[in-house]
Amino acid sequence: MGVAAKIAPSMLSSDFANLASEAHRMIQDGADWLHMDIMDGHFVPNLTLGAPVIQSLRKHTDAYLDCHLMVTNPLDYVEPLAKAGASGFTFHVEVSKDNWQELVHRIKSKGMTPGVALKPGTPIEEVFPLVEGETHVDMVLVMTVEPGFGGQKFMPETMDKVRTLRKKYPSLNIEVDGGLGPSTIDIAASAGANCIVAGSSVFGDPDPAKVISLLRTSVEESQKK
Ligand code: DX5
Ligand code: ZN
Repeated sequence: MGVAAKIAPSMLSSDFANLASEAHRMIQDGADWLHMDIMDGHFVPNLTLGAPVIQSLRKHTDAYLDCHLMVTNPLDYVEPLAKAGASGFTFHVEVSKDNWQELVHRIKSKGMTPGVALKPGTPIEEVFPLVEGETHVDMVLVMTVEPGFGGQKFMPETMDKVRTLRKKYPSLNIEVDGGLGPSTIDIAASAGANCIVAGSSVFGDPDPAKVISLLRTSVEESQKK
């Protein structure tokens, strides 16, 4: 048996004006996690949501809120997001080279689960120390598009990183994010990803439950091989 499949619809593709009902709908449709894209308009050109929105949503759901921090200064977000009720806190390695240990330590001390993300152009070796150290993250998020926007095309060349990670760390949570859907899930699942973020493919389909179930089946079937 492999690492448990976690299907995480990206709420970036939801109707933000109805965030609570969109979250309920996804959980009813079989989602394990809700992926929350926090963008600061600086690390990435887009600006989305922050702690106040997480706090509002938390009042309406007990779901695991998988927060993906596309921000230049993740350390500043630890305290506010913990207070707001975030569950996972995944920061980018590109902006945390000097302070990742402090960051991981603080995330854990606030009761959140630490993860590290890397952009398509960032070599996988950069996250090894964060996975192996005594202070370590619980998940690596391999970006399969350039972070910033939903609806982009999956980059298959990022799969080498997933394969390398899975070979080296059989029980690590490996998340993929960007362009995942029925036509790309098999390549990501067979490379070894177990946490699947999907925005436009889930919200853009008239039957999101069917898409979520298809993503899960692909992960589970790949693990049997
Ligand atoms: C992109 C975000 C993703 C995005 C994925 O920067 O990190 O989570 O919402 O959306 P899709 O699945 O549409 O590529
Ligand atoms: Zn994301």
